[in-house]
Formats: sequence, C-alpha cells, structure tokens
Amino acid sequence: MQYEVVLPAAGSGKRMGAGQNKLFLLLEDKPILIHTLEVFQDDENCTGIWLAVKPEERGFIQQLLKKFHITKVKGLPNGGEERQHSVHSCLKEMQQVEIVLVHDAARPFITKPIIARLVEAASEKGAAIAGVRAKDTMKKVRDGVIVETIDRDSLWMIQTPQAFQFNLLAEAEDVAEKVGFLGTDEAMLVERLGHAVHIVEASYDNLKMTTKEDLVLGEAILRKRAL
Ligand code: CTP
Ligand code: MG
Repeated sequence: MQYEVVLPAAGSGKRMGAGQNKLFLLLEDKPILIHTLEVFQDDENCTGIWLAVKPEERGFIQQLLKKFHITKVKGLPNGGEERQHSVHSCLKEMQQVEIVLVHDAARPFITKPIIARLVEAASEKGAAIAGVRAKDTMKKVRDGVIVETIDRDSLWMIQTPQAFQFNLLAEAEDVAEKVGFLGTDEAMLVERLGHAVHIVEASYDNLKMTTKEDLVLGEAILRKRAL
C-alpha cells in the first residue's frame, strides 16, 4: 500500500556535539541523511518524501539529493523551532494522501518490512508507531531513591516511523497548535484526541543517531548488514 513520508531534518544535533547538523556526518561513505532517504527512495510503495530543513541548509541538501540520485522529494519546507513544528510545516504543504509516515531523518536503519507493517496497521486502525520492548528493568526514582519497580511487560521504547491516516494526523496537529500543546512525538498528539495508537514491534537496530557513541554502533550495524 502506498504512502508519503515526512522526514524532519531541521535539528541542530546539539547532543552529537559535531558543530554542525549531525545528519551531514558520514556513516561509512554517506551522510546519515542519505542513508535514511535511500530507504524510502528504494521503497516502491513510497510515492513522495517531504523534508523539513533549515533555510540555510536547503541548498546543500539539494546538492546532496542530486549527487545521490534521490528523486522522490516533493518539497523541502522550512523547519521550525521544535521537531513538531518541522513536521507541521511539511503537512501544511502536502496534498491529502491516504497514509502519511513521520520518520526521524536521524534513524537511518529503518527497513522496508517494518514500514510495510506500519502502513498496513495505520490503514486498518488509524495510527501505528514503531517500538521495541524495554530490555532493562525499569524503576521509578525520586530524590535518588527507588519508589517503584515498573512492570517491564507494559513498557515499550518508542521509535519512528509513526504512521497515520492523513486526516487523523492533520486534525491532531491542528488541535495541538491551537491549544499550544507540544509533544515529543506525533503519537502523543493523536493520543490526546482519545484515538488508539497501535504498536508495531520494530528492531533494536532502528537507532536514532543522537550522541557520538551511536555513530560507532551505526558503523557496526552497517558492517553486520554487509556480511
Ligand atoms: N528536528 C527537526 N526540527 C527541529 C528539531 C529536530 O526537524 N526543530 C529533526 C532532527 O533533524 C532529527 C529528528 O527531528 O532528524 C529527531 O530529533 P533529534 O534526534 O532530537 O535531533 P536534533 O534536534 O538535531 O538533536 P539534538 O536534540 O541533540 O539537538
Ligand atoms: Mg532534538
């Protein structure tokens, strides 16, 4: 089933500490951004890519798209102060489609089978997000003291992509904007409407490149895949 994808790429990468947008750092021979884009470029079900970018980086990104033969990008609107604003600026430019995915440009290891399962779940149920089961025991701590051990079976670590029927996400974003609600992901905005968001079990490889250590793990994942 077909879909379009929104890739917020307008962050600063502060936690990476590279002095530039972390998406331009290389993993093996290619920028992180290109690794992510290639997944969607190569997925025949993806009919359009929307990239939220910083205005001062648009020219460079357009050069990268050309160099790496990324042809599916339909628009590169200005990102905003927060990730949610960046996603919103893409949605505002999009024509209505049935299913829209939102995926961090900083997660280059997403795979087509997981994308397909998310698209299917969103088509049937409205909203679905990728996640993995928590591996470690989780405890709630207050003032340095354990208050509670949380039942691990109910804990999931949430990733992207997050997949939605377009109208549902558009409504959730409009409502959030009106009341000034800022969520850490799009699912939160949909949850606020009282709509169920379904989990699709994804992969621990679907890392977000956030700190320097993640680059080492990222290179290891690429080497593992090349075997
Ligand atoms: N992003 C965005 N617009 C923002 C903030 C983030 O488009 N105002 C994008 C980033 O480019 C990234 C994704 O959202 O692809 C996930 O955000 P995160 O991993 O937090 O990246 P940064 O915000 O760049 O990193 P940091 O928080 O360390 O500064
Ligand atoms: Mg950030």
